[in-house]
Amino acid sequence: MNIGKIDLAPPFALAPMAGMTDTAFRRLVKRKGGCGLVVTEMVSSDGLVRGIDRTLEYAEYTEEERPVSIQIFGGDPVKMADAAQIVEGMGADIVDVNMGCPVPKISKHNAGCSLMREPEHAQAVVAAMVKAVKIPVTVKMRAGWDDQAINAPALASRMEEAGASAIAVHGRTAAQSYSGFSDWDLIGRVATGVGIPVFGSGDCVEPSQIVQRLNGGPVSGVLVGRGALRNPWIFEQAAALRRGEPARPIAPAERARFLLEYIELLLQERNGEAAGFRHVAPGQPAPEPRPARGHDRWVINKLRALNSWYTKGIDNGSHLRVAVNAAESIAQLRALIVEFFETGAIAGRAAHCVPPPQPSLR
Ligand SMILES: Cc1cc2nc3c(=O)[nH]c(=O)nc-3n(C[C@H](O)[C@H](O)[C@H](O)COP(=O)(O)O)c2cc1C
Repeated sequence: MNIGKIDLAPPFALAPMAGMTDTAFRRLVKRKGGCGLVVTEMVSSDGLVRGIDRTLEYAEYTEEERPVSIQIFGGDPVKMADAAQIVEGMGADIVDVNMGCPVPKISKHNAGCSLMREPEHAQAVVAAMVKAVKIPVTVKMRAGWDDQAINAPALASRMEEAGASAIAVHGRTAAQSYSGFSDWDLIGRVATGVGIPVFGSGDCVEPSQIVQRLNGGPVSGVLVGRGALRNPWIFEQAAALRRGEPARPIAPAERARFLLEYIELLLQERNGEAAGFRHVAPGQPAPEPRPARGHDRWVINKLRALNSWYTKGIDNGSHLRVAVNAAESIAQLRALIVEFFETGAIAGRAAHCVPPPQPSLR
């Protein structure tokens, strides 16, 4: 599968997930293999244009993540074109437009999924971006706004007309948020209706499902979100299945190591030792050193967020969720992770384990 001149091998991608697909997580997923493209968390076009540090941080990536797509959101064609130029200046391979976010904070600003309600305007946004940059512009959308307004096939054609190089479709409406199922028949109709590659997105939590979606329909690629948060080896396993090989089982010690490595990468960021981050294209002056984030709390909160997904579906996973949510230091986190994956439980937890709160879905 190609997006512009970029070859995605294999055609499996880590879906954009706000709060989750940070550079540390993306690097670790990429190192496991089988992932042809990673997409950043959504980044505000407004924040990029205004040069807000925090926004620029969301867009940071490292060389080992390539090819990397930076997803931006916004509803103003001029700002989105300017932001696309900034993304291109940062050396990203692809700039992606968020037309799927149902969260009112985003959609009420004429951005995210509300762009699907104004197809002409959405087309103008993408056309302005395509005109402004040389890198491929892609669009990620939902099925539509609600059951009465399922317009992904028509909107995808407009996006193709506007010059988009690829489309990704999460087959739920904004009104559905994450309830029900992703409609892969609809995704298939989008894929057959346009000449550009289409990624399908939604509900692939097993490696075999990724391969079935790719082989059993007209999509060119598959985006995986929550399945990769639970199992970052899902791409490597799917790639093996696609080659006709068995999917490698993941030992508990390896699962522990993933979380410990995630902590290490976050600590490097916290300490300001993030030399590999890029703010500029090759040949441009070196970026300013990144300021240290300073606090363990940031690392602890990020680990908690990942852990709430990572422990889903694991025997006694709630032990680790509850314990990690109560831990107050990084040393404690490390010890809990080692104990859990070595013994399959956390001592003394079973008796007072309560069901964890569901992580909020975006
Ligand atoms: C925590 C979380 C954050 C998300 N953030 C974004 C986002 O920033 N941009 C976006 O286009 N989609 C976002 N999504 C949607 C996913 O990219 C994906 O389309 C959706 O989760 C369905 O795929 P899945 O079943 O494989 O998770 C998010 C999903 C989750 C669970």
